[in-house]
Amino acid sequence: MLFQQIRNAPTGAFSYLLGDRDSRQALVVDPVDQNLNVILALIGDLALDLRYILMTHGHAASAADALRLRAQAGGRIVASIACQILVADQRVDHGDCLPLGDEVIHVIGTPGHTQCSICYRWRDRVFTGDTLLFGACGDVNSADADAGCLFDSVTRRLFMLPPETLVFPGADANGRTVSTIAEEKAGNRLLSGRSREAFVTLMSSAPRQGASGSSLRSMSGSMPWQFLPVNSGSHWQAVMSLLGEVVPGCDGAFSNGVFHQRLTELSRAGFSGTALV
Ligand SMILES: [Fe+2]
Repeated sequence: MLFQQIRNAPTGAFSYLLGDRDSRQALVVDPVDQNLNVILALIGDLALDLRYILMTHGHAASAADALRLRAQAGGRIVASIACQILVADQRVDHGDCLPLGDEVIHVIGTPGHTQCSICYRWRDRVFTGDTLLFGACGDVNSADADAGCLFDSVTRRLFMLPPETLVFPGADANGRTVSTIAEEKAGNRLLSGRSREAFVTLMSSAPRQGASGSSLRSMSGSMPWQFLPVNSGSHWQAVMSLLGEVVPGCDGAFSNGVFHQRLTELSRAGFSGTALV
């Protein structure tokens, strides 16, 4: 099997490519825009047959990235059955399996960061999107987020996986590439040693200033911001506030492409993944 982690350095956004060397069947997890060129190059160079585009959740920006990959490389967009935003070709639920050559991808329902958040397990590794990050977890800023559900999803499902399971999240701003379930159970700064009630309180009161690249991506993508007027929602306002603090002259009236450029500038300005604590 071919396994490739693809990371966009400025934003810390991860995508993953998995391919069966015999059948040439392949899948991509979370094909964020910044990684598309590398993904397409790998698919072409390795003569892979893209079967699935797996979405761990369905922010509007993520949906646009998946549609772009499907248009250029084919494949079926797979998302949670609970996903309301994403235009998916196949909807899956907790316990479902996806065949890939002789391999099997297992779907783990993990609502919380968004209602439609799911993780995918393959062999000894799990792709967790923004549900479980390195030492943290995704924010609960989107309209359908639920901190209690997020706690249950991580502690009752992800933490029930074998401790040696490799954790591959959707983003990391600090340069890490992999963790394990054992490591997260022992040292996740948001979850370890914290009750469900304490976790909900913490997440509900978490300051948004200094958010990680992942959190910024989540906030910006948790609503179809590219179709809405500026300042039309609290999440957008939070993003605008963060951008305005770090990027001089930022007035919020910019397009999708400029937004990504601003995120890059944020990363270079020293944003780290320590914001939620
Ligand atoms: Fe997210």
